[in-house]
Amino acid sequence: MSTLDLFGSPEPGQAENNANPAQARMLALRDLLHHHAHQYYVLDAPEIPDAEYDRLFQELQAIEVLHPEWLTPDSPTQRVGGRILDHFAPARHAVPMLSIRTETDTEASGAQSFDARVRKELGLGETDVVAYTAELKFDGLAINLRYEAGVLVQAATRGDGEVGEDVTQNIRTIGQIPLRLSPTTSHPVPEVLEVRGEVYMRRDDFEALNERQRSRIAAGEKGEKTFVNPRNAAAGAVRQLDPAIAAQRPLSFFAYGLGEVSPQAAEQLHISTHMAWLQAFKVWGFPVSEHAAVVHGATELIAYHQRIGAARDSLPFDIDGVVYKVNSLALQQQLGFVTREPRWAVAHKYPAQEQLTTVLDIDVQVGRTGKLTPVAKLAPVFVGGVTVTNATLHNEDEARRKDVRVGDTVIVRRAGDVIPEVVGVLADKRVASTAIFTMPATCPVCGSVAVREEGEADHRCSGGLFCSAQRKQAILHFAHRRAVEVEGLGEKLVDQLVDGGVINTLPDLYRLGLTALANLERMADKSAQNILLALEASKATTLPRFVFGLGIRHVGEATAKELARHFGTLDAIMAASVDELLLVQDVGPVVAQSIHTFFAQAHNREVVEQLRACGVHWDESTPGQAGPKPLAGKTFVITGTLPTLSRDEAKDMLEAAGAKVAGSVSKKTSYVLAGTEAGSKLDKAQELGVPVIDEAQMLHMLEVVP
Ligand code: IVH
Repeated sequence: MSTLDLFGSPEPGQAENNANPAQARMLALRDLLHHHAHQYYVLDAPEIPDAEYDRLFQELQAIEVLHPEWLTPDSPTQRVGGRILDHFAPARHAVPMLSIRTETDTEASGAQSFDARVRKELGLGETDVVAYTAELKFDGLAINLRYEAGVLVQAATRGDGEVGEDVTQNIRTIGQIPLRLSPTTSHPVPEVLEVRGEVYMRRDDFEALNERQRSRIAAGEKGEKTFVNPRNAAAGAVRQLDPAIAAQRPLSFFAYGLGEVSPQAAEQLHISTHMAWLQAFKVWGFPVSEHAAVVHGATELIAYHQRIGAARDSLPFDIDGVVYKVNSLALQQQLGFVTREPRWAVAHKYPAQEQLTTVLDIDVQVGRTGKLTPVAKLAPVFVGGVTVTNATLHNEDEARRKDVRVGDTVIVRRAGDVIPEVVGVLADKRVASTAIFTMPATCPVCGSVAVREEGEADHRCSGGLFCSAQRKQAILHFAHRRAVEVEGLGEKLVDQLVDGGVINTLPDLYRLGLTALANLERMADKSAQNILLALEASKATTLPRFVFGLGIRHVGEATAKELARHFGTLDAIMAASVDELLLVQDVGPVVAQSIHTFFAQAHNREVVEQLRACGVHWDESTPGQAGPKPLAGKTFVITGTLPTLSRDEAKDMLEAAGAKVAGSVSKKTSYVLAGTEAGSKLDKAQELGVPVIDEAQMLHMLEVVP
């Protein structure tokens, strides 16, 4: 038997050999559509417009309607789902789908203990270096795809490892999964080939799906629900009995392993490593993650674990760890299995980004501008590397949408530096008689009426500075490091000062005496002295810092700077009409109105006057921050620790040179300024091809005068 016979598969050229022109056209269309589906779904590089694809698809459908006897399961038309099932048929795996040992240990020890075990089993010494394939551990569900003569004949879930469920109909709807494999001269397709991998949902697809689900629910469609995370959504779709519904769920796939394969296939294909199998999968049309890499020894495993850990949040899909596999197939065989786990592979997890906990209470907090925020008080839970006890519910609509209630068991998510979030409630764990959350009609702090203005999502306390919560926030904001900066004036102290009636307004801060401060509980004379010194130092400030510190709604740091630059003096800003304010860069109608309203109020003007009378001052002699602006029009993102400058200092210098400093990397970012321990922002920059510079290069740029 020749190699080609053994690896026989439908030949792409078979269309020409056919006598019947309709049949020939049908086969040609299938070839074309397979090719374009691969370009579109797997390579993300479509060669024809969608409309052209649809036209070819419809032409094929038309032929198949006329000739149902020619229909085969690998036709691209078979992706759109078949009949509704009442259950899934069991599917026995030809080769069991094993589980894999998990290391949740710290970075070093997890990889080291695995590498040490492997070397010991293989009788290797301390200095011998084993080659591994390191891969992402995708957070979806495992699927076995069986191809016979290059055609997908069965797709099955893992089940108990021996017997899974036949989900072929649903899996066929996934555009990234080839229905037929394309052989090449170097890679003929084995007669029997089982490819294993993970079906998952991308995060953006998941968000879009939930958005659609929400509008369905809003439209009153029965039986619709939102999903708590991409993995649940993917698992739900694969186990959907109606393939038409599965077809609407945006699923993706990555191939990572081999099941049954024709004997001798590896030899015929000259494959002797796991990585070579992954490459073969790619050649045959499967998506294989570009993050799979061959690494050597424990040190490189650790580096891989760290690198992927830093990039984790910027990946477009969820992972829960990485997987290490001995690369050599011969060594894999030598290592064999313990019970149901291979000795040659291990999963090395990252801290979970989602955990279950219970809602102890729902508090309503009052912000600086009076915004009322419902906050879930949680039983402490370790998630995403920190202990979480609070999660914001944002506003009434959000709290209702998620229907979070006191006593509920909820999923809490904390990814990267993002604030913790309640992603969903486990409805079946709800104890009876819990009440739906409602926003209080009055401010929980001062009792003023809470109002929700039309078109706004937020409720606000109408008490203004009568409300002690708002007063405290206003003082903290004024004292903030990026406003006038009063070192040492933190939340606890402000609570004491306001609750004890020692201060009521911003200017009161500057009227504080040593006795009043030193009389506060737990306040040593020395600390009181320091606060007074800090207050004194804060009096010499700048116009932008002062304007920002006033806490005018919608006026952030950048707007405060623009206002100062445009008007030059505080009096000019205070006297500006809405129309004049609209002339300031980046100031729109809402912001202009907010500034105007703020200064139109007598009590705000009074506060400003008193602050000035207390000695708060700034230099108004050089309005407009004159000077060259070599970086005008450029946007920077700063990440990591810089060698000599703090991030704030770098930000100030860049802004003084006319640049904008943004918080996240996008295509519009001109440069990423990176220091040590730069994380996902650096990865994102590399992904988007945004130039990355260091502090020295930045300083050099600042010297360049046009
Ligand atoms: S290999 C014998 N590689 O992790 C080794 N598993 O295996 C078989 N998983 O639910 C598994 N990404 O679905 C392997 N790159 C990867 C993986 C991976 C995700 C899942 C797999 C299974 C679990 C344990």
